[in-house]
Amino acid sequence: MAEAADSLPPAEVLLSKRVQEMVINQEEPPHLYICRKSGEAADEEQQGDVSSDPLSHFPVIDISKLSSSSSPLSDHDGELQKLKSTLSSWGCFLATGHGIPTSFLDEIVRVAREFFEQPMEEKRKYEKGVEDFEGYGGDPVPAKGQPLDWSDRLFLDVYPEDQRKPKFWPENPPSFRDVLQEYTVKMRMMTEALSKAMARSLDLQEDCFLNQFGERAPIQARFNYYPQCPRPDLILGLKPHADGTGYTIILQDVEGIQVLKDDKWFTVPTMSGALLVLMADQMEIMTNGVFKSAVHRVLSSSERDRISVAVFYTPEADKEIGPEEALITEERPQAYKKVKDYNGQHWGYYQQGLRAIHIAKV
Ligand code: OGA
Ligand code: NI
Repeated sequence: MAEAADSLPPAEVLLSKRVQEMVINQEEPPHLYICRKSGEAADEEQQGDVSSDPLSHFPVIDISKLSSSSSPLSDHDGELQKLKSTLSSWGCFLATGHGIPTSFLDEIVRVAREFFEQPMEEKRKYEKGVEDFEGYGGDPVPAKGQPLDWSDRLFLDVYPEDQRKPKFWPENPPSFRDVLQEYTVKMRMMTEALSKAMARSLDLQEDCFLNQFGERAPIQARFNYYPQCPRPDLILGLKPHADGTGYTIILQDVEGIQVLKDDKWFTVPTMSGALLVLMADQMEIMTNGVFKSAVHRVLSSSERDRISVAVFYTPEADKEIGPEEALITEERPQAYKKVKDYNGQHWGYYQQGLRAIHIAKV
């Protein structure tokens, strides 16, 4: 890290190499990964910017209680109220009762781990170009001055099926493709149930969000591998951001993701069988700001590596989305305009380390 600035490798060069390789070779993290000042992490804790609340305070919602057919009326109303208030304050929750067996969630983590633990040569078969999005590698080169993430990822379009690019779908471990296909089906069911429940919690027509997303609303899967990091005080797994999707569903094996609420970072606890549901900017827009898009980040760890699988559910890019009419009232005037392909526009801001939501404000 003592080299002269002009002899340091540029981001393009660093991004052609995997973080995992640097760790295996015991290389010192290059300067472009450093995104925090020395002492910043310690200051954050000291100033109370990181919550020391017991982790049990993180919201958990049993989504089996949200469907009108499957639970007693009183349970159902209470859980819907809780859903609404949680998404208005936290913008996220841990979902239980989603019907996906814990053994299957464990299997997804296992095949993801098996993929990343293979020799580099095997993974390179699915490698993307430095500036491409889909495939195995790092995110495309960010704007100048923006840090790189301490992670490798495999990004795949999984729905609609005609959008899949099989050349990026790993053949090893041998069960990878079938497991991902099954998870896609389950994620389609979960997004349908969740979108309906969120609508009902706001006294809206059950299908209103599903109609805004559209029948061919894309689903993408991002398998993240966060290698152990020698300097977790200076380097983040993923910089702070809000997602540009409708909402995102995350599976993690160990802790690492934190969510910002009331200017404090809260660690999302690991809970066997639970999935993190995270509101993103387009749900904030469609609810006219009632639901909050949750800003989040991922810490790095010197103690162990981490696997997560983020599933992004996004309205069709050529469909205009906007606030539900019934949520525009005298007390809550229209806060957002109608927008199209918000996710595409979001990406440009993300690469500059900025949020994009202002582009949709009235
Ligand atoms: C993301 C993300 C969180 C995680 O991929 O957008 O925020 O826990 N991932 O990996
Ligand atoms: Ni995210």
